[in-house]
Parts: sequence; structure tokens; C-alpha cells
Amino acid sequence: MTQSHLSRAGRRNARGGGRSGVVAALLASALGVTTVALTTPDAAPQAPAPAAPYAPVAAPAPGDVLVDESFGGPGLPAGWSAVEGDWKVENGRLVGASANWNQQTRITFGRHLTDFRIEVTARFETVVDAARWTALGLDVPASGVTPWSIATMRSGTTAGNGLEFAQRTPADSWSVTNTAVAPAAAGTGRDVRIAVEVHGNSARWIFEGKEVMRTSQVARSADGGQALIVNGARVSFDDLKVTALAPGAFRRGPGAPLTVFAHRGASSAAPENTLLSDEVARRAGAEWIENDVQPSRDGVPYVLHDDTVNRTTNGQGRIRDLTAAQLDALDAGAWFGPASAGARVPSLAAQLDDLRTRGGSLLLEIKGPHTRDEVARIVKDVRDHGMTGRVFVQSFEVDALRYTRELAPDLPLGLLRGSLDTDPVAVARDLGLSAYNPSDAALSTRPEVVGALHAAGVAVNVWTVDTADRWKALDAAGVDGVITNRPAELAGWLSARQ
Ligand code: G3P
Ligand code: CA
Repeated sequence: MTQSHLSRAGRRNARGGGRSGVVAALLASALGVTTVALTTPDAAPQAPAPAAPYAPVAAPAPGDVLVDESFGGPGLPAGWSAVEGDWKVENGRLVGASANWNQQTRITFGRHLTDFRIEVTARFETVVDAARWTALGLDVPASGVTPWSIATMRSGTTAGNGLEFAQRTPADSWSVTNTAVAPAAAGTGRDVRIAVEVHGNSARWIFEGKEVMRTSQVARSADGGQALIVNGARVSFDDLKVTALAPGAFRRGPGAPLTVFAHRGASSAAPENTLLSDEVARRAGAEWIENDVQPSRDGVPYVLHDDTVNRTTNGQGRIRDLTAAQLDALDAGAWFGPASAGARVPSLAAQLDDLRTRGGSLLLEIKGPHTRDEVARIVKDVRDHGMTGRVFVQSFEVDALRYTRELAPDLPLGLLRGSLDTDPVAVARDLGLSAYNPSDAALSTRPEVVGALHAAGVAVNVWTVDTADRWKALDAAGVDGVITNRPAELAGWLSARQ
């Protein structure tokens, strides 16, 4: 969803001469340049560069099928390594056998991947008992030594721990991070299609096409690949595929531009947190609009940053002391300039209506402490407007994020921070975050946390950044998105760099 609003804008341009193209053309014209093919400057012929001591491994492109094996050959596929137990190819299937619960029969293959899907058809032929299992190896060293991370399926799949995410620890014991009940039992003698999608430390367990469990706790190594494991059973496998995925939905893909989040709409050009500032941001090409949500006295979520209406309207008083009718009567534009007079304080419902019909996604900030019921009302508004797929909830308030996760596990969460946590990855795991959103000043103290958060599958969006110098620095630091008061300028700046 956030991969690249500009690439989407680019597609719109291809169809109808969209705004990003106009911005680029205006910039080019202002700079007095025409479009030319880029060539290297004339230079004396140079000796070829010495060969690299090793061939760099190119990152796979999303969609690349990296392993596609139907076991049609006479023996084990090339590059596969049976590191424990009995493995053979029989009748076009790979068969692994483990004598008892104490033998982790395993075969390793593939290469280290951060973002990938592994899928296979598995059949328990015989089992020592219904609790015995097979597993997809998500991060297993080629040698098969511990530690390794797996997604497990028991023959008695409908048990409370029928499916698991687990790690075999360096001490050769189990650390089970997540368990779930499958919708049907694999039993024995039945083909079951199973898949897991991994993004760093995050993963989804998919049983016969249905997602049954998520985790943010896959322990990852620097070089582990994929594997199949069998325990206390004889299991046959067919049609195994490993496919490269794009980085997690809220992370920036390789070469993609920063995601633009319009802070309170295009708040440098129009009154903040109004439908007017949203429209300016939308027309500038920003797909994401950030807001601040707080309840009226009668419990209706409204879009306002401060805890009073004093600064941004012609009224006075705390938002929590004013009714929806009183808020609706305020002018939220005249303070900004006569051209904006008549703009209103939108309710969240009105903003969602506007986004749904006119376009755009919402970075919805739950502003200030909220009760569970107040969060429930926000979630209801989002659901009633059919906007769960276009809303990303963020907050400085940990409780508000926990309530949101309980009430709407389908909504992605971002934690706003004015200073960095000692261990942002641990916090992200605890809260189930899709994004960790620090201030620019906070991130500048330890920009290396971006890499650690990315390895855990967590995006990083930085606020509130309005200058090209900082956009350039954050782009270089690898952050995913920038929350800015100047979305038109950032969108144009990014377009000019493409
Ligand atoms: O989205 C980040 C930013 O909005 C946080 O600060 O005070 O502008 O809501 P604030
Ligand atoms: Ca905000």
C-alpha cells in the first residue's frame, strides 16, 4: 500500500498526464533543461577494473521464483543437503522419515532471504502419534546446526498447538513463540497445501489458503536458508516453491522513493486538519494524509491537533468540553487567511467520507490518552466507512495502540516517539508494530536503528521534516517515509530525483 505513491502517480501520468509529470516538467522548465539521454563524460579509455574477489549476490526481484521443485529427478535435487535422518525421492515426491520424537530429520536448501514465501504440499504417510509434526524451515543454516526457525504443523493439526512458529535454540531446546488451531486436521494420507510468508522477523502461517496466525518473532540469522523438517513421522512432499516477496507492505522497496505523508494535510499551504488541506495534499500527489483525532464532549471523533480549539478556529474551549454541534459551527480556516474562511473542523467520519470518495489513505493519529471505548468508536468509524484497508493508526499513546490491536488486529500500527527507545525492535515486537515513527531529532541520535527495525520487518517514518537537506539525509539513511508539512514540495523533490 505504501510502496510508492509516486510510482502509482507515475502510472496515472502514463494514462493521463498527471500531476507528478507536471511538477517534473515545471521543474525542468524552471531549470532551463530539456530531457536528454544521460551519458558519461568523455574520458580516456581505462583498464578494466580488477575482478571482485567474490561475485556479489543480487537481491531477488519480488515475484522471482527462487526454488521450484516437483521432485521429478531420480535423486535429491542439486544443492539440497540431507543433514539429518533419511531422505529420498520416491514416485515423484520427496520423502523424509524420522524414527521418533527425538529425531529432527531435516534437509536444507535455498539461500538467505528476508522477504519470501515458502509453500509445499505435505502428506503425513505414517506418524508415531498425532502430536508428531513436519515443518517449513524459515531460517536454517545449510549445515542444519542450531539455532533455526521453523513453522510447524502437527498431524493432529486441530490441537491447540496444531500449528506453531518456533525456534530450536542454540542450547538445542524449543522456544515456541506462537501457536494456533488449524481449521482442519492434516491427519495421515491427506495432501495439505501449506505456506508461510516471511518479512524479516514477521511471518504469516497459511493453511490451505487461509491465514491462521501471524508472528513478529521469527528469529533470523545472517545467512540461514530454507529447510524441511520431519519429527516422529514419515512425510512426503511435492511442489515446493520459494518466491521472493516485496519488502513488508509499509517498507520502501529497493530504488523506490520515500513515501510522502502530508502532516495535518498540506498544512503549509492550507489550514491544518481540514478537508481543504487534505485536498491540497491530494492534488500535490500525496497518497497519505496524517491527522489528529480526539473526541467531542458527546463522544464523536473529530480531527484537531491541540486540546483546545483556540489556535485553529474562531472558537474557544477544550475539544472534550464542546459538543459535535458546537464543533460543527466553528470556522477552522479564517485564522489561516481570508482565502480559507469557511473551512470546518471535520469529524473523522467526514474525513473518511472525503478520502473514500476523493482518494487517499489516512495516517490516523489517536491524539492524547483515550479510553478503550473512545478507541472503539474510532475503529467503528473506520469500519463503517469500509476504510480498514486505507488507514494506518499511529499514536504516542501505548495504551491507545494496545486497544486498537485488541479491537482491530487488521489495522497496521505505528508508534510515535520523540526520543528513541533503548531497544526499538523489542518495543515494536511487544506492540505488534508495522512502523516505528520517531522525530527527526530522535532518529538522528542513532540512525542505525533503521537497519535493525527493517530486519524485524518494521517500517520507519520520520516527522516532521520540511527541508530538502533533511529529506536527502533521511533518504540516504533508508527510512521509508517522511511526514511533512510540505507534501507538494517533497513530492516534486522526489519526482525530480527519479
Ligand atoms: O505524525 C507525527 C506528528 O504529527 C507528531 O506530532 O504534535 O504534530 O501530532 P504532532
Ligand atoms: Ca499528528
